[in-house]
Amino acid sequence: MERTQVVIPAGEMDRQREFTARLAALHQQRERRPLAMVETYGCQQNVADSQRIMGMLREMGCGFTRDPFQADVIVINTCAIRENAEKKVFGVVGQLVHAKEKNPSLTICLCGCMAQQEVVAEKIRASYRHVDLIFGPQALWRFPELLYEVYTRHKRVFSIADEHGSIAEGLPVVRESRVRAWVSIMYGCNNFCSYCIVPYVRGRERSREPADILAEIRQLAEDGCREITLLGQNVNSYGKDLDNPMDFAALLEEIDKIPGDYLIRFMTSHPKDAGERLFDAMARCTHVAKQLHLPVQSGSSRVLKAMNRGYTREQYLEKVRYARSVMPELVLTSDIIIGFPGETEAEAMETVSLIKEVRYDALFTFIYSPRPGTPAARMPDPVSRAEKQVWFDKLLDAQNQISGGLHRAYIGKTVRVLVDGESGDAEWPLSSRTNGGRLVHLKGDPGWIGQYADVRITDSNTWALFGEI
Ligand code: SAH
Ligand code: SF4
Ligand code: F3S
Repeated sequence: MERTQVVIPAGEMDRQREFTARLAALHQQRERRPLAMVETYGCQQNVADSQRIMGMLREMGCGFTRDPFQADVIVINTCAIRENAEKKVFGVVGQLVHAKEKNPSLTICLCGCMAQQEVVAEKIRASYRHVDLIFGPQALWRFPELLYEVYTRHKRVFSIADEHGSIAEGLPVVRESRVRAWVSIMYGCNNFCSYCIVPYVRGRERSREPADILAEIRQLAEDGCREITLLGQNVNSYGKDLDNPMDFAALLEEIDKIPGDYLIRFMTSHPKDAGERLFDAMARCTHVAKQLHLPVQSGSSRVLKAMNRGYTREQYLEKVRYARSVMPELVLTSDIIIGFPGETEAEAMETVSLIKEVRYDALFTFIYSPRPGTPAARMPDPVSRAEKQVWFDKLLDAQNQISGGLHRAYIGKTVRVLVDGESGDAEWPLSSRTNGGRLVHLKGDPGWIGQYADVRITDSNTWALFGEI
Protein backbone atom coordinates (compact mmCIF):
# COMPACT_ATOMS: atom_id res chain seq x y z
CA MET A 1 0.00 0.00 0.00
CA GLU A 2 1.20 3.53 -0.76
CA ARG A 3 2.42 5.38 2.33
CA THR A 4 0.42 8.44 1.33
CA GLN A 5 -2.73 6.39 1.79
CA VAL A 6 -1.68 5.30 5.26
CA VAL A 7 -1.02 8.68 6.88
CA ILE A 8 -4.23 10.68 7.33
CA PRO A 9 -3.92 13.89 5.28
CA ALA A 10 -3.61 17.15 7.25
CA GLY A 11 -6.87 18.39 5.71
CA GLU A 12 -8.76 15.44 7.21
CA MET A 13 -7.24 16.08 10.64
CA ASP A 14 -8.28 19.77 10.31
CA ARG A 15 -11.80 18.66 9.51
CA GLN A 16 -11.84 16.64 12.75
CA ARG A 17 -10.61 19.69 14.65
CA GLU A 18 -13.60 21.60 13.24
CA PHE A 19 -15.94 19.00 14.72
CA THR A 20 -14.08 19.33 18.01
CA ALA A 21 -14.67 23.10 17.93
CA ARG A 22 -18.36 22.60 17.16
CA LEU A 23 -18.67 20.14 20.04
CA ALA A 24 -16.89 22.59 22.34
CA ALA A 25 -19.45 25.25 21.33
CA LEU A 26 -22.33 22.86 22.02
CA HIS A 27 -20.84 21.94 25.38
CA GLN A 28 -20.42 25.59 26.29
CA GLN A 29 -24.16 26.16 25.93
CA ARG A 30 -24.81 23.70 28.75
CA GLU A 31 -25.53 24.85 32.28
CA ARG A 32 -22.38 23.23 33.62
CA ARG A 33 -19.17 21.95 32.12
CA PRO A 34 -19.80 18.40 30.86
CA LEU A 35 -17.83 15.60 32.48
CA ALA A 36 -16.37 12.63 30.64
CA MET A 37 -15.45 9.21 32.00
CA VAL A 38 -12.93 7.09 30.09
CA GLU A 39 -12.43 3.50 31.20
CA THR A 40 -9.69 1.35 29.66
CA TYR A 41 -9.24 -2.41 29.36
CA GLY A 42 -6.44 -4.34 27.67
CA CYS A 43 -2.86 -3.57 26.82
CA GLN A 44 -0.71 -0.42 26.84
CA GLN A 45 -1.77 0.27 23.28
CA ASN A 46 -5.27 0.84 24.60
CA VAL A 47 -3.96 2.95 27.47
CA ALA A 48 -2.17 5.13 24.92
CA ASP A 49 -5.31 5.33 22.75
CA SER A 50 -7.39 6.35 25.77
CA GLN A 51 -4.98 9.19 26.46
CA ARG A 52 -5.70 10.45 22.92
CA ILE A 53 -9.44 10.10 23.47
CA MET A 54 -9.09 12.11 26.67
CA GLY A 55 -7.07 14.70 24.76
CA MET A 56 -9.90 15.06 22.24
CA LEU A 57 -12.53 15.23 25.00
CA ARG A 58 -10.56 17.93 26.79
CA GLU A 59 -10.46 20.00 23.60
CA MET A 60 -14.23 19.52 23.35
CA GLY A 61 -14.46 21.31 26.70
CA CYS A 62 -15.00 18.30 28.95
CA GLY A 63 -13.72 17.80 32.47
CA PHE A 64 -13.16 14.27 33.80
CA THR A 65 -14.79 12.03 36.38
CA ARG A 66 -14.60 8.38 37.45
CA ASP A 67 -18.23 8.26 38.54
CA PRO A 68 -20.63 7.06 35.81
CA PHE A 69 -23.50 8.84 37.60
CA GLN A 70 -21.69 12.18 37.29
CA ALA A 71 -20.67 11.67 33.66
CA ASP A 72 -22.21 13.22 30.54
CA VAL A 73 -20.05 11.18 28.15
CA ILE A 74 -18.72 7.70 28.91
CA VAL A 75 -16.11 5.99 26.72
CA ILE A 76 -15.30 2.32 27.35
CA ASN A 77 -12.11 1.30 25.54
CA THR A 78 -12.28 -2.47 25.21
CA CYS A 79 -9.99 -5.50 24.75
CA ALA A 80 -10.77 -8.69 22.83
CA ILE A 81 -7.69 -10.76 23.60
CA ARG A 82 -9.46 -13.41 25.72
CA GLU A 83 -13.06 -14.32 26.42
CA ASN A 84 -12.77 -13.12 30.04
CA ALA A 85 -11.80 -9.65 28.89
CA GLU A 86 -14.93 -9.49 26.73
CA LYS A 87 -17.20 -10.82 29.47
CA LYS A 88 -15.96 -8.18 31.86
CA VAL A 89 -16.74 -5.41 29.38
CA PHE A 90 -20.25 -6.73 28.69
CA GLY A 91 -20.82 -6.72 32.46
CA VAL A 92 -19.63 -3.12 32.81
CA VAL A 93 -21.62 -1.93 29.80
CA GLY A 94 -24.74 -3.72 31.09
CA GLN A 95 -24.44 -1.86 34.40
CA LEU A 96 -24.32 1.51 32.62
CA VAL A 97 -28.02 1.18 31.84
CA HIS A 98 -28.67 2.54 35.36
CA ALA A 99 -26.59 5.66 34.75
CA LYS A 100 -28.49 6.22 31.52
CA GLU A 101 -31.85 5.82 33.28
CA LYS A 102 -30.86 8.51 35.76
CA ASN A 103 -29.45 10.79 33.07
CA PRO A 104 -31.09 10.17 29.68
CA SER A 105 -28.85 12.73 27.98
CA LEU A 106 -25.76 10.64 28.87
CA THR A 107 -23.81 9.52 25.78
CA ILE A 108 -22.25 6.05 26.01
CA CYS A 109 -19.46 5.09 23.59
CA LEU A 110 -17.74 1.75 23.11
CA CYS A 111 -14.42 1.65 21.29
CA GLY A 112 -11.27 -0.46 21.08
CA CYS A 113 -10.59 -3.98 19.90
CA MET A 114 -13.92 -5.57 20.85
CA ALA A 115 -15.80 -2.86 19.03
CA GLN A 116 -14.04 -3.75 15.78
CA GLN A 117 -15.69 -7.19 15.71
CA GLU A 118 -18.88 -7.58 13.76
CA VAL A 119 -20.38 -10.07 16.26
CA VAL A 120 -19.85 -7.70 19.16
CA ALA A 121 -21.34 -4.76 17.28
CA GLU A 122 -24.38 -6.89 16.45
CA LYS A 123 -24.83 -7.92 20.07
CA ILE A 124 -24.61 -4.29 21.22
CA ARG A 125 -27.00 -3.16 18.50
CA ALA A 126 -29.58 -5.73 19.52
CA SER A 127 -29.24 -6.06 23.29
CA TYR A 128 -27.47 -2.97 24.66
CA ARG A 129 -29.69 -0.21 23.33
CA HIS A 130 -28.28 2.36 25.74
CA VAL A 131 -24.95 2.40 23.85
CA ASP A 132 -24.95 5.36 21.46
CA LEU A 133 -21.67 5.04 19.59
CA ILE A 134 -19.41 2.16 18.60
CA PHE A 135 -16.10 2.64 16.81
CA GLY A 136 -13.03 0.43 16.35
CA PRO A 137 -9.35 1.36 16.84
CA GLN A 138 -9.09 2.21 13.15
CA ALA A 139 -11.62 5.04 13.54
CA LEU A 140 -10.19 6.56 16.72
CA TRP A 141 -9.07 9.76 14.99
CA ARG A 142 -12.64 10.31 13.73
CA PHE A 143 -14.07 10.35 17.27
CA PRO A 144 -15.02 14.09 17.07
CA GLU A 145 -17.00 13.60 13.86
CA LEU A 146 -18.72 10.46 15.20
CA LEU A 147 -19.65 12.08 18.50
CA TYR A 148 -20.96 15.15 16.65
CA GLU A 149 -23.14 12.85 14.58
CA VAL A 150 -24.59 11.25 17.73
CA TYR A 151 -25.29 14.69 19.23
CA THR A 152 -26.91 16.26 16.20
CA ARG A 153 -28.69 13.34 14.54
CA HIS A 154 -29.96 11.85 17.79
CA LYS A 155 -29.36 8.34 16.57
CA ARG A 156 -26.96 5.53 17.31
CA VAL A 157 -23.75 5.50 15.27
CA PHE A 158 -21.77 2.35 14.38
CA SER A 159 -18.38 2.85 12.72
CA ILE A 160 -16.61 -0.49 12.48
CA ALA A 161 -15.84 -0.76 8.77
CA ASP A 162 -12.98 -3.22 8.27
CA GLU A 163 -10.07 -1.00 7.28
CA HIS A 164 -6.39 -1.77 6.83
CA GLY A 165 -5.71 1.02 9.26
CA SER A 166 -4.04 4.38 9.10
CA ILE A 167 -1.78 6.67 11.09
CA ALA A 168 -3.13 9.87 12.60
CA GLU A 169 -0.49 12.39 13.68
CA GLY A 170 -1.07 15.39 15.92
CA LEU A 171 -3.93 14.07 18.05
CA PRO A 172 -4.07 15.83 21.42
CA VAL A 173 -3.15 13.77 24.47
CA VAL A 174 -3.76 13.76 28.23
CA ARG A 175 -0.84 11.96 29.87
CA GLU A 176 -1.57 10.19 33.14
CA SER A 177 1.75 11.16 34.63
CA ARG A 178 4.50 13.70 34.04
CA VAL A 179 7.07 11.04 34.84
CA ARG A 180 6.03 8.25 32.47
CA ALA A 181 4.74 8.31 28.90
CA TRP A 182 3.70 5.87 26.19
CA VAL A 183 4.73 6.51 22.59
CA SER A 184 3.23 4.33 19.87
CA ILE A 185 5.82 3.80 17.16
CA MET A 186 3.66 1.53 15.01
CA TYR A 187 0.18 0.12 14.85
CA GLY A 188 -1.35 -3.20 13.83
CA CYS A 189 0.19 -6.63 13.38
CA ASN A 190 1.01 -8.86 10.40
CA ASN A 191 2.00 -11.99 12.28
CA PHE A 192 -1.28 -13.84 12.57
CA CYS A 193 -0.24 -16.11 15.41
CA SER A 194 -2.92 -18.76 15.09
CA TYR A 195 -4.58 -18.05 18.48
CA CYS A 196 -4.58 -14.26 18.30
CA ILE A 197 -7.34 -11.79 17.46
CA VAL A 198 -5.14 -8.67 17.30
CA PRO A 199 -4.35 -8.69 13.54
CA TYR A 200 -8.08 -8.90 12.82
CA VAL A 201 -9.01 -5.93 14.99
CA ARG A 202 -5.94 -3.70 14.74
CA GLY A 203 -5.30 -3.97 11.01
CA ARG A 204 -2.00 -4.30 9.14
CA GLU A 205 1.40 -3.21 10.43
CA ARG A 206 2.18 0.44 9.81
CA SER A 207 5.06 2.48 11.22
CA ARG A 208 5.12 6.13 12.18
CA GLU A 209 7.75 8.28 10.48
CA PRO A 210 10.98 8.41 12.53
CA ALA A 211 10.85 12.23 12.46
CA ASP A 212 7.43 12.24 14.15
CA ILE A 213 8.55 9.75 16.82
CA LEU A 214 11.79 11.63 17.51
CA ALA A 215 9.95 14.95 17.79
CA GLU A 216 7.51 13.49 20.32
CA ILE A 217 10.32 11.99 22.40
CA ARG A 218 12.39 15.18 22.26
CA GLN A 219 9.40 17.09 23.61
CA LEU A 220 8.81 14.55 26.39
CA ALA A 221 12.48 14.65 27.39
CA GLU A 222 12.37 18.48 27.45
CA ASP A 223 9.26 18.36 29.61
CA GLY A 224 11.17 16.28 32.15
CA CYS A 225 9.59 12.91 31.40
CA ARG A 226 11.76 10.16 32.90
CA GLU A 227 10.42 6.94 31.38
CA ILE A 228 9.26 6.60 27.82
CA THR A 229 7.86 3.28 26.65
CA LEU A 230 7.76 2.68 22.91
CA LEU A 231 4.72 0.67 21.90
CA GLY A 232 3.93 -1.72 19.08
CA GLN A 233 2.60 -5.29 18.82
CA ASN A 234 5.94 -6.24 17.33
CA VAL A 235 8.42 -3.38 17.59
CA ASN A 236 11.10 -5.48 15.87
CA SER A 237 9.36 -5.19 12.55
CA TYR A 238 9.30 -1.40 12.88
CA GLY A 239 10.08 0.54 9.72
CA LYS A 240 9.74 -2.19 7.09
CA ASP A 241 6.85 -0.30 5.48
CA LEU A 242 8.48 3.15 5.44
CA ASP A 243 9.39 4.83 2.15
CA ASN A 244 12.93 5.07 3.58
CA PRO A 245 13.10 1.88 5.63
CA MET A 246 14.78 2.11 9.05
CA ASP A 247 14.83 -0.80 11.46
CA PHE A 248 14.06 -0.76 15.17
CA ALA A 249 17.70 -0.98 16.25
CA ALA A 250 18.48 2.11 14.16
CA LEU A 251 15.48 3.92 15.63
CA LEU A 252 16.77 3.17 19.15
CA GLU A 253 20.17 4.57 18.22
CA GLU A 254 18.55 7.76 16.90
CA ILE A 255 16.40 8.17 20.01
CA ASP A 256 19.42 7.60 22.22
CA LYS A 257 21.04 10.75 20.80
CA ILE A 258 18.28 12.91 22.31
CA PRO A 259 19.75 14.57 25.40
CA GLY A 260 18.03 14.29 28.77
CA ASP A 261 17.73 12.22 31.93
CA TYR A 262 15.25 9.64 30.69
CA LEU A 263 14.98 5.90 30.08
CA ILE A 264 13.56 4.18 27.01
CA ARG A 265 11.60 0.94 27.39
CA PHE A 266 9.71 -0.85 24.64
CA MET A 267 7.17 -3.58 24.11
CA THR A 268 6.52 -5.99 22.59
CA SER A 269 9.42 -7.77 20.91
CA HIS A 270 8.58 -10.78 18.80
CA PRO A 271 11.38 -13.36 19.19
CA LYS A 272 11.41 -14.23 15.49
CA ASP A 273 12.54 -10.68 14.63
CA ALA A 274 14.67 -9.96 17.70
CA GLY A 275 18.34 -10.74 17.29
CA GLU A 276 21.94 -9.72 17.75
CA ARG A 277 21.48 -6.37 16.01
CA LEU A 278 18.78 -5.36 18.48
CA PHE A 279 20.55 -6.69 21.57
CA ASP A 280 23.81 -4.97 20.58
CA ALA A 281 21.94 -1.69 20.11
CA MET A 282 20.23 -2.08 23.50
CA ALA A 283 23.56 -2.74 25.17
CA ARG A 284 25.15 0.31 23.48
CA CYS A 285 22.37 2.87 24.02
CA THR A 286 22.72 4.48 27.44
CA HIS A 287 19.09 5.66 27.51
CA VAL A 288 17.71 2.21 26.78
CA ALA A 289 16.67 0.21 29.86
CA LYS A 290 18.21 -3.23 30.10
CA GLN A 291 14.80 -4.82 30.09
CA LEU A 292 13.27 -7.12 27.54
CA HIS A 293 9.76 -8.52 27.28
CA LEU A 294 10.28 -11.44 24.90
CA PRO A 295 7.11 -13.57 24.84
CA VAL A 296 7.94 -17.20 24.20
CA GLN A 297 4.32 -18.51 24.46
CA SER A 298 5.42 -22.15 24.60
CA GLY A 299 8.50 -24.25 25.29
CA SER A 300 7.53 -26.90 22.75
CA SER A 301 8.75 -26.48 19.18
CA ARG A 302 5.77 -28.47 17.90
CA VAL A 303 3.30 -26.17 19.64
CA LEU A 304 5.24 -23.07 18.53
CA LYS A 305 4.84 -24.24 14.94
CA ALA A 306 1.10 -24.75 15.40
CA MET A 307 0.96 -21.27 16.91
CA ASN A 308 2.68 -19.89 13.78
CA ARG A 309 5.33 -18.19 15.89
CA GLY A 310 8.24 -18.63 13.47
CA TYR A 311 10.93 -19.88 15.92
CA THR A 312 11.82 -23.07 17.77
CA ARG A 313 12.58 -23.62 21.44
CA GLU A 314 16.30 -23.86 20.64
CA GLN A 315 16.33 -20.67 18.57
CA TYR A 316 14.58 -18.82 21.36
CA LEU A 317 17.02 -20.06 24.00
CA GLU A 318 19.94 -19.07 21.79
CA LYS A 319 18.57 -15.51 21.54
CA VAL A 320 18.22 -15.30 25.32
CA ARG A 321 21.79 -16.55 25.74
CA TYR A 322 23.12 -13.88 23.38
CA ALA A 323 21.05 -11.08 24.93
CA ARG A 324 22.37 -11.96 28.38
CA SER A 325 25.93 -12.21 27.12
CA VAL A 326 25.86 -8.56 26.00
CA MET A 327 23.62 -7.36 28.88
CA PRO A 328 24.41 -9.43 31.98
CA GLU A 329 22.05 -7.30 34.12
CA LEU A 330 19.11 -7.84 31.71
CA VAL A 331 15.65 -8.11 33.29
CA LEU A 332 13.73 -10.60 31.17
CA THR A 333 9.97 -11.24 31.12
CA SER A 334 7.65 -13.30 28.95
CA ASP A 335 4.09 -14.29 28.06
CA ILE A 336 2.97 -17.93 28.16
CA ILE A 337 -0.13 -19.67 26.86
CA ILE A 338 -1.04 -23.01 28.45
CA GLY A 339 -3.54 -25.34 26.81
CA PHE A 340 -3.22 -24.39 23.14
CA PRO A 341 -5.48 -26.75 21.11
CA GLY A 342 -3.84 -30.16 20.87
CA GLU A 343 -1.13 -29.39 23.44
CA THR A 344 -0.25 -32.51 25.44
CA GLU A 345 0.78 -32.66 29.07
CA ALA A 346 4.34 -33.47 28.02
CA GLU A 347 4.38 -30.36 25.81
CA ALA A 348 3.02 -28.15 28.59
CA MET A 349 5.81 -29.51 30.82
CA GLU A 350 8.32 -28.54 28.13
CA THR A 351 7.13 -24.99 28.79
CA VAL A 352 7.68 -25.46 32.52
CA SER A 353 11.19 -26.77 31.83
CA LEU A 354 11.89 -23.79 29.55
CA ILE A 355 10.97 -21.25 32.19
CA LYS A 356 13.15 -23.08 34.71
CA GLU A 357 16.01 -22.94 32.25
CA VAL A 358 15.55 -19.25 31.39
CA ARG A 359 14.65 -18.07 34.92
CA TYR A 360 12.49 -15.11 33.92
CA ASP A 361 12.13 -12.18 36.27
CA ALA A 362 8.37 -12.27 35.77
CA LEU A 363 5.80 -14.02 33.59
CA PHE A 364 2.36 -13.16 32.25
CA THR A 365 0.56 -16.48 32.04
CA PHE A 366 -2.70 -17.29 30.29
CA ILE A 367 -4.89 -20.29 29.68
CA TYR A 368 -5.73 -20.52 26.00
CA SER A 369 -9.01 -18.85 25.10
CA PRO A 370 -10.54 -19.57 21.68
CA ARG A 371 -11.12 -16.42 19.63
CA PRO A 372 -13.77 -16.88 16.96
CA GLY A 373 -12.37 -16.31 13.47
CA THR A 374 -8.79 -17.34 14.30
CA PRO A 375 -7.29 -20.60 12.91
CA ALA A 376 -6.70 -22.08 16.40
CA ALA A 377 -10.39 -21.75 17.24
CA ARG A 378 -11.08 -24.32 14.51
CA MET A 379 -8.48 -26.83 15.78
CA PRO A 380 -9.58 -29.86 17.85
CA ASP A 381 -9.13 -29.06 21.55
CA PRO A 382 -9.73 -32.30 23.47
CA VAL A 383 -8.13 -31.41 26.83
CA SER A 384 -10.54 -30.27 29.57
CA ARG A 385 -10.33 -26.90 31.22
CA ALA A 386 -9.72 -28.63 34.57
CA GLU A 387 -6.69 -30.47 33.20
CA LYS A 388 -5.29 -27.27 31.67
CA GLN A 389 -5.71 -25.61 35.05
CA VAL A 390 -3.52 -28.30 36.66
CA TRP A 391 -0.73 -27.64 34.11
CA PHE A 392 -1.19 -23.92 34.59
CA ASP A 393 -0.81 -24.22 38.37
CA LYS A 394 2.41 -26.19 37.92
CA LEU A 395 3.73 -23.41 35.73
CA LEU A 396 2.78 -20.75 38.28
CA ASP A 397 4.37 -22.69 41.13
CA ALA A 398 7.61 -22.98 39.22
CA GLN A 399 7.63 -19.28 38.32
CA ASN A 400 6.74 -18.14 41.85
CA GLN A 401 9.75 -20.01 43.16
CA ILE A 402 11.98 -18.43 40.54
CA SER A 403 10.74 -14.83 41.04
CA GLY A 404 10.67 -15.27 44.81
CA GLY A 405 14.28 -16.45 44.75
CA LEU A 406 15.45 -13.67 42.40
CA HIS A 407 13.69 -11.09 44.57
CA ARG A 408 14.97 -12.48 47.89
CA ALA A 409 18.52 -12.11 46.60
CA TYR A 410 17.93 -8.34 46.56
CA ILE A 411 17.30 -8.03 50.30
CA GLY A 412 20.02 -5.95 51.94
CA LYS A 413 21.22 -4.52 48.61
CA THR A 414 20.94 -0.90 47.50
CA VAL A 415 19.40 -0.19 44.08
CA ARG A 416 18.74 2.97 42.11
CA VAL A 417 15.09 3.55 41.27
CA LEU A 418 12.87 6.16 39.68
CA VAL A 419 10.00 7.04 42.01
CA ASP A 420 7.06 7.09 39.62
CA GLY A 421 3.86 7.43 41.64
CA GLU A 422 1.77 6.70 44.68
CA SER A 423 0.87 3.07 45.35
CA GLY A 424 -2.34 3.65 47.29
CA ASP A 425 -0.96 1.47 50.11
CA ALA A 426 -0.68 3.12 53.55
CA GLU A 427 2.42 1.27 54.68
CA TRP A 428 4.32 1.52 51.39
CA PRO A 429 2.93 4.74 49.86
CA LEU A 430 5.29 5.13 46.89
CA SER A 431 5.91 2.95 43.85
CA SER A 432 9.13 2.97 41.89
CA ARG A 433 11.02 0.98 39.28
CA THR A 434 14.61 -0.06 38.82
CA ASN A 435 16.35 0.49 35.50
CA GLY A 436 15.33 -3.04 34.53
CA GLY A 437 11.70 -2.26 35.35
CA ARG A 438 11.44 -4.19 38.63
CA LEU A 439 8.69 -2.85 40.89
CA VAL A 440 9.85 -1.49 44.27
CA HIS A 441 7.36 -0.28 46.89
CA LEU A 442 8.76 2.45 49.10
CA LYS A 443 8.29 4.33 52.33
CA GLY A 444 8.62 8.07 51.84
CA ASP A 445 6.65 11.16 50.91
CA PRO A 446 5.14 12.07 47.51
CA GLY A 447 7.73 14.85 47.07
CA TRP A 448 10.00 12.10 45.72
CA ILE A 449 7.80 11.42 42.68
CA GLY A 450 9.71 12.07 39.47
CA GLN A 451 13.10 11.74 41.15
CA TYR A 452 15.76 9.05 41.23
CA ALA A 453 16.64 7.60 44.61
CA ASP A 454 19.01 5.03 46.07
CA VAL A 455 16.94 2.52 47.96
CA ARG A 456 17.86 -0.19 50.44
CA ILE A 457 15.78 -3.29 49.87
CA THR A 458 14.31 -4.60 53.11
CA ASP A 459 11.75 -7.17 51.97
CA SER A 460 10.33 -8.93 48.90
CA ASN A 461 7.56 -11.17 47.62
CA THR A 462 7.00 -12.92 44.30
CA TRP A 463 5.78 -9.72 42.62
CA ALA A 464 7.82 -6.89 44.04
CA LEU A 465 10.58 -5.57 46.26
CA PHE A 466 10.10 -3.32 49.29
CA GLY A 467 12.57 -0.70 50.43
CA GLU A 468 13.53 2.55 52.09
CA ILE A 469 15.09 5.62 50.57
N1 SAH B 1 2.10 -8.72 20.36
C1 SAH B 1 2.44 -9.36 21.54
C2 SAH B 1 1.30 -9.87 22.37
C3 SAH B 1 0.00 -9.18 22.44
S1 SAH B 1 -1.27 -10.05 23.26
C4 SAH B 1 3.32 -10.53 21.17
O1 SAH B 1 3.28 -11.04 20.10
O2 SAH B 1 4.01 -11.02 22.01
C5 SAH B 1 -0.59 -10.38 24.84
C6 SAH B 1 -0.54 -11.83 25.20
O3 SAH B 1 -1.83 -12.37 25.31
C7 SAH B 1 0.13 -12.70 24.18
O4 SAH B 1 1.53 -12.64 24.26
C8 SAH B 1 -0.39 -14.07 24.53
O5 SAH B 1 0.40 -14.68 25.50
C9 SAH B 1 -1.76 -13.76 25.13
N2 SAH B 1 -2.83 -14.20 24.23
C10 SAH B 1 -3.10 -13.75 22.99
N3 SAH B 1 -4.16 -14.43 22.47
C11 SAH B 1 -4.55 -15.31 23.40
C12 SAH B 1 -5.59 -16.30 23.45
N4 SAH B 1 -6.41 -16.52 22.43
N5 SAH B 1 -5.71 -17.04 24.59
C13 SAH B 1 -4.87 -16.86 25.63
N6 SAH B 1 -3.89 -15.94 25.63
C14 SAH B 1 -3.72 -15.17 24.53
FE1 SF4 C 1 -0.99 -11.42 18.36
FE2 SF4 C 1 1.13 -12.67 17.42
FE3 SF4 C 1 0.56 -10.20 16.59
FE4 SF4 C 1 1.41 -10.60 19.07
S1 SF4 C 1 2.58 -10.99 17.20
S2 SF4 C 1 -0.28 -9.32 18.44
S3 SF4 C 1 0.52 -12.56 19.60
S4 SF4 C 1 -0.64 -12.04 16.20
FE1 F3S D 1 -6.52 -6.28 23.92
FE2 F3S D 1 -6.51 -4.99 21.67
FE3 F3S D 1 -4.44 -4.82 23.27
S1 F3S D 1 -7.26 -7.02 21.97
S2 F3S D 1 -4.44 -6.77 24.31
S3 F3S D 1 -6.47 -4.11 23.72
S4 F3S D 1 -4.40 -4.79 21.06
